[in-house]
Amino acid sequence: MNKNNPIGIFDSGIGGLTVAKAILSVLPKENLIYFGDTKHLPYGEKSARSIECFSTKIAFFLKQKKCKMIVIACNTASSLAHESIKKLFPTIEIINVIDPVVNLIYKNKPSCVGIIGTKGTINSKIYPKKIHEIAPKIKVKSLATPLLASIIEEGFFNDKISRVVLNKYLNKSELKNIDQLILACTHYPLIQKLIGKFYNNKIDIIDSSSQVASHIKNVLEKKDLLSNKITGHRFFVSDYTKSFEESAKFFFGEDIYLEEVSSIH
Ligand code: DGL
Repeated sequence: MNKNNPIGIFDSGIGGLTVAKAILSVLPKENLIYFGDTKHLPYGEKSARSIECFSTKIAFFLKQKKCKMIVIACNTASSLAHESIKKLFPTIEIINVIDPVVNLIYKNKPSCVGIIGTKGTINSKIYPKKIHEIAPKIKVKSLATPLLASIIEEGFFNDKISRVVLNKYLNKSELKNIDQLILACTHYPLIQKLIGKFYNNKIDIIDSSSQVASHIKNVLEKKDLLSNKITGHRFFVSDYTKSFEESAKFFFGEDIYLEEVSSIH
């Protein structure tokens, strides 16, 4: 495998850009191929079978683009499709966004951790399962917050609409008495400020992107696959929309040129 080959990253939409940004901040010489499956967004509402089917097709696309690693920058797909992708592509390094966070929770040892994510992620129970495998004493409280990803995808990051919906969710009894909160959806760091404000910045908010980025750095270092040549990034979507392009530019902070690939699904 050539070390200057790109890292492939995918999500249903712009959420995975939080991970892409974090990767570039620790590995500025890496070249990324990003895929936003805008045609099938939101993933959180779809069946496990559909998520597996969308995700494996995207992984195949990224493999064809000669990616040296595939990052599943989506909690829903990490919960429901990571194992199948790993089996189908045994020669490529496959990274999910859940394990690095679970390892951090193990180190932090909170007494009660809250988790918010899509219905797909929360109903899979993957976080409590993985946390209890290594730290059975930590209490885990979970809540599906299905409207958030769509609101964020539509560009409502830090305004009244996102605040009202968010507060309604965070006030629920399911999340009472937590001392840390895992943002188990890669879209949520985009409203992290609002989440911090809700808790008066008194609890730790765990966003997977920096954990995932440092895990990726370790893996690439160990395998001697760190890139030393910048050739540029490419951004693909399964359905081009102006709103995605605007949100992506606004958030990624670079002039993003979107390429549409409708043929893979
Ligand atoms: N960003 C994704 C996640 O981490 C998916 C959100 C969605 O499309 O529902 O779960």
